Amino acid sequence: MKVNEKILILDFYGQFNQLIARRVRECNVYSEIVPFDISIDKIKEIAPKGIIFTGGPASVYEKDAPTVNKEIFNLGIPILGICYGMQLISYMLGGNVEKADRREYCTKSVNLDNASPLFAGFENTNDCLMTHNDYVSRLPNGFKKIAFTDDCPIAAMSNDDKKIYGIQFHPEVNHTKDGIKIIHNFLYNICNCKGDWNMSSFVEETVLKLKEKIGDKKALCALSGGVDSSVAAVLLNKAIGKNLTCIFVDHGLLRKNEGDEVEKIFKEQFDINLIRVNAKDKFLSKLAGVIDPERKRKIIGEEFIRTFEEEAKKIGKVDFLVQGTIYPDVIESGVGKGQTIKSHHNVGGLPDYVDFKEIVEPLRDLFKDEVRKTGLELGIPENLVYRQPFPGPGLAIRIIGDITEEKLEILKEADYIFRDEIAKAGLDRTLNQYFAVLTNLKSVGVMGDDRTYDYTLALRAVETSDFMTANFAKIPYDVLEKVSTRIVNEIKNINRIVYDITSKPPATIEWE
Ligand code: XMP
Repeated sequence: MKVNEKILILDFYGQFNQLIARRVRECNVYSEIVPFDISIDKIKEIAPKGIIFTGGPASVYEKDAPTVNKEIFNLGIPILGICYGMQLISYMLGGNVEKADRREYCTKSVNLDNASPLFAGFENTNDCLMTHNDYVSRLPNGFKKIAFTDDCPIAAMSNDDKKIYGIQFHPEVNHTKDGIKIIHNFLYNICNCKGDWNMSSFVEETVLKLKEKIGDKKALCALSGGVDSSVAAVLLNKAIGKNLTCIFVDHGLLRKNEGDEVEKIFKEQFDINLIRVNAKDKFLSKLAGVIDPERKRKIIGEEFIRTFEEEAKKIGKVDFLVQGTIYPDVIESGVGKGQTIKSHHNVGGLPDYVDFKEIVEPLRDLFKDEVRKTGLELGIPENLVYRQPFPGPGLAIRIIGDITEEKLEILKEADYIFRDEIAKAGLDRTLNQYFAVLTNLKSVGVMGDDRTYDYTLALRAVETSDFMTANFAKIPYDVLEKVSTRIVNEIKNINRIVYDITSKPPATIEWE
């Protein structure tokens, strides 16, 4: 099944732009974020079913405010402007935009004209998130008002003949009740989309494309056991089978059983050509006595590349190098700005070290939740698909101070118990990251009649959407109690357990 329908999202630097793209895709229509100054010729070439102008921080009257070529309104392609996007439409088509007395950033009850195809299926009022300084004070010719609030006389407008719509509020955020229904209405009632975007069509189409591109040539993939590289590898395997070689550098700093699980899934379930390099001893000897976290990271990064390079050399020249780059990486490296390939920080700089002709990035167009759905579609086990993020340097940055084999084993076991109890309590899908840290602190305890002098273990669990900020998770005390009892009973050398109650900022998620 071929994806024919596309929605272009013109980026005016709004804070919710990625969310708009995701919502459109959740409605089964493929969307792409492009720079606001994309040329008219390019738009014609892409022939999207609809165009969305995002919000943005600018004011239409500012010098150098981002704008569009007016020709865009004559292409016969439906347009939806959100917030700044609406103001821009009004400004360019002869309406009026004014500065409001005060900035609004709140959820408001909005009166909607539910006879408009954009608001079909809504009641007369709906709670919507308004965030703006400016507002449309006079409609452009040919437009009518289709929503208002007490403070905002024109909260949405439309020209049904030309299929141009503007809304002052944000349908893409959860604060707007049933906002996705507005997006759905735009796509299906106005753009006449059929909805041909889903993960099974993505898999089918991508496998075909990869077969065409790679043919019987050879590809190499660095497999980390994380979601992105795993999904990329399985897709490639489906397309080119044994012409794909995956190298899995096991630095010995993975969580308990993880290395074996990765090997089992890829070798046994998918029959992938996998080379596992057991490099634990090499990594531990390089790390011996190292205390500084940044030095640990650097050593691991360099050693990783060296190990990968040694293995890759044995294979010789390959035609393609597979990378698990996903859409947020592409957007963050700058929409339209040449789209530089992001080298993953935990396999830093690979392209310089491997003899290959071209990079293949099969997940380049997908958001993380779509990567997970693709993984499930491909039959990758759920526990791998929903695996929490794990740092490239692994447990090395969760052992405070110097790393020894003994400490590594203690931490692996303790972390395993913590994760096991979190899963048993059904918290594994709501916590975004949770792990144990072996502090370098020893303290006095009592076990039976004996005095002990052993390690303090810290537990860390956070809730976050972007990992840039995070709140410590309020795990129920009885779960913490179970974890604590099990760990001190089952693991020697730990006699005290603390729970980290700092958020980020001021703390970071990892301790090092
Ligand atoms: P921090 O500790 O900076 O972590 O609040 C934010 C997120 O990044 C992960 N993290 C890393 N990931 N290499 C990685 O691949 C690293 O060196 C690294 N340091 C932190 C961390 O686990 C969290 O998800």
